[in-house]
Amino acid sequence: MKITLSVIKADIGSIGGHIKPSEKLLKTVKDYIAGEGHGLVKDFYVGYTGDDIAILFTHTRGKGDSKIHGLAWKAFLAGTQVAKDQGLYGAGQDLLKSSFSGNVKGMGPAVCEMEFQERPNEPFLFFAADKTEPGAYNLPLYLAFADPMNTPGLLLSPEMNKGFKFRIMDVSYTKGDRVIELSTPEGLYDIAALLRDNERFVVESIYSKKGEIAAVVSTTRLHNIAGKYTGKDDPVMLVRVQKHFPATGEVLAAFSRTHYVGGGMRGSHSMPLMPMKLNSPTSYFDGPPMVSCAAFCVHNGLLTEPVDVFAHPYWDYVRSKASRKATEMREQGFSGAAMLPYSELEYGGIVEILKRLDKKFKVKK
Ligand code: 13P
Ligand code: 13P
Ligand code: MG
Ligand code: MG
Repeated sequence: MKITLSVIKADIGSIGGHIKPSEKLLKTVKDYIAGEGHGLVKDFYVGYTGDDIAILFTHTRGKGDSKIHGLAWKAFLAGTQVAKDQGLYGAGQDLLKSSFSGNVKGMGPAVCEMEFQERPNEPFLFFAADKTEPGAYNLPLYLAFADPMNTPGLLLSPEMNKGFKFRIMDVSYTKGDRVIELSTPEGLYDIAALLRDNERFVVESIYSKKGEIAAVVSTTRLHNIAGKYTGKDDPVMLVRVQKHFPATGEVLAAFSRTHYVGGGMRGSHSMPLMPMKLNSPTSYFDGPPMVSCAAFCVHNGLLTEPVDVFAHPYWDYVRSKASRKATEMREQGFSGAAMLPYSELEYGGIVEILKRLDKKFKVKK
């Protein structure tokens, strides 16, 4: 059976700052989809990561379907009304356009979708991250799909040994989707040269050499849509696993490094990415930036219950490491590597300060 997995996520309001959506808001979104999605979606799952609500749909309508996107949009509108009624912070934060035009892409919510012929056993991973940007997945995806130091399957599985195709997007280009396709292992250094720059070059998708979809990432850039800072583009991702794709544990292993990512505190800081349990709130320094992962199997479009893969005790050790790295980076305050480059801050108040000071500079005689 050919099915589509669609993830659509948005921050539509949260309690106590940018912490987590309220129970009532979540229930409203779930109830809306359960009611209005009847006959349209095969199955769905709703969860939150920090202040972001993500909806995972299974259906047979293909990618970019206006009815599926419209359903998510209307569920988020219903949730926003609750957020307003409860006085939640940032009510409707990511809904940047007032009228729906057939597809939520470019309207604020993050989207990632894949369509494929279901394998008899179809395991996949659904990632959601908060207080960071789509490029946060660059390094883990490189490690999981291209580095035998992380993924022994690249040596042990003849199919994986053929390598993968990476489609990488230049997210600073605003007139359309500017992409390049590069293959491993031959294009490894070119891929690394691009993925070094998480702000600009983002893995959009990965395919097997046969053309089977393996991974998709949301590539929204909220500040490209809004023209001003409106919050970070907290990214979602789907990864198919096992057989011709990396094993679940190989993909997860790539998250044990807690690498520094952009987007912490006011979208302006570099902080380590902490793997967290499903439905976790934010805390220290509005973070630390977090990633959650739900593992599923799907059959005839029906989902199993999710497995919370970062709930295992191994990840407590990793979380401690991330806490230590976060504290160490915060000892830097505003200095150097602690904050993002000027190009990423250009919509923040710092631009006004620098403009004002620029006029006061004098060239010494
Ligand atoms: P304020 O909205 O309180 O200025 O905080 C900004 C922030 O937390 C980043 O979105
Ligand atoms: P969100 O983009 O998750 O709303 O966070 C804003 C922020 O930067 C808080 O510090
Ligand atoms: Mg928020
Ligand atoms: Mg968020």
